[in-house]
Amino acid sequence: MSLLQLENVSVAYDQQLILKDFNLSIEKGQLVSLLGPSGCGKTTTLRLIAGFLEAKDGRFLFGGQDYTRMPVNKRNFGLVFQSYALFPHLSVFDNIAFGLRLRKVGEDEIKRRVGRMLEIVSLTGLERRFPKALSGGQKQRVAIARALVIEPDLLLFDEPLSNLDANLRVNMRVEIRRIQQELGITAVYVSHDQEECFSISDRVAVMNRGVIEQLDHPAAIFKRPKTEFVARFIGFHNFIDFEERSETGNGTELKVRGYRFVAAAQPGHEVRAGKKGAIRPDDVEIGTVAELGSGANRVVGKIKVSTYLGRSYQYEVETELGTFTVNKEMDTPYVSGSEVHLMFPPERLVLVD
Ligand SMILES: Nc1ncnc2c1ncn2[C@@H]1O[C@H](COP(=O)(O)OP(=O)(O)O)[C@@H](O)[C@H]1O
Ligand SMILES: [Mg+2]
Repeated sequence: MSLLQLENVSVAYDQQLILKDFNLSIEKGQLVSLLGPSGCGKTTTLRLIAGFLEAKDGRFLFGGQDYTRMPVNKRNFGLVFQSYALFPHLSVFDNIAFGLRLRKVGEDEIKRRVGRMLEIVSLTGLERRFPKALSGGQKQRVAIARALVIEPDLLLFDEPLSNLDANLRVNMRVEIRRIQQELGITAVYVSHDQEECFSISDRVAVMNRGVIEQLDHPAAIFKRPKTEFVARFIGFHNFIDFEERSETGNGTELKVRGYRFVAAAQPGHEVRAGKKGAIRPDDVEIGTVAELGSGANRVVGKIKVSTYLGRSYQYEVETELGTFTVNKEMDTPYVSGSEVHLMFPPERLVLVD
């Protein structure tokens, strides 16, 4: 059985439903991310799990017990927020020791456990410092150590890296993943940053307006988004609304305005029902007819806009089937107005609902 289970949970602020029939289950030792745009209900979900908010309907089961009405202080959960929320008048040591003192743990034991935490978050030697003498990354490490030291049954992260600069964010997320795996901790991790979620999670739940649209392994979501919303959110900029579809032996044949496309079947994945095709800018091929050949999955277009992304150029290409965004690494870019051919590889064209 799952360690954590939210069953048909609804949460409302002032009569307005924020989570509707929300379901989520998490296995022991897993890190699951909630990924979605601002306002979709990620923090609300965490507050519900933490016990700061009450469910209007539904149940919250944890470790086989009903936690739906369990008071906050009876839930042995650790919390890490964006704002660190360290006590400014306490040293690093005393900040980390806080939860243990609250639980009346003996001083010898506190020394031992805080010492071990300092090692885990690589802050040994800084225990006498005060928060104002720490960098953002160090403060966040203290916040993580403080959450971990109580040996929580569940660790909740709410955008913990948003206040850090880009390089540090990458280092810290590796640290978080390392610590979570080393200690075998179960965690729920909230972020609006897809790369962050994908890189550290066992599974990712993509949320839209209080609902999980897809919950899956990061690679499965990355390659096979289920819905248009999920696809857009993770960087599929190109969509084609097909008029007809029919199944072939090894995929789906799609037609629109006299154009024929094929979306290859993905072994191990169910065939999606929709008639909307999606593809990433990196996956569309662009070139001359000599380079790309002719046949299905092709359309001719004109370069409208060209921008430089550093590694590649990005083109907006106007065609009879709409405007497509295409990335290509090349030394000399196409000039605006030139005619180009586009090819949508069948194994990269994904059908979404
Ligand atoms: N205390 C509150 N009172 C009323 N509405 C709120 C409150 N907190 C959040 N909301 C609303 O609930 C929705 C979800 O918010 P939140 O869970 O914070 O989203 P996220 O963390 O995904 O950005 C938003 O529309 C937000 O405006
Ligand atoms: Mg939030």
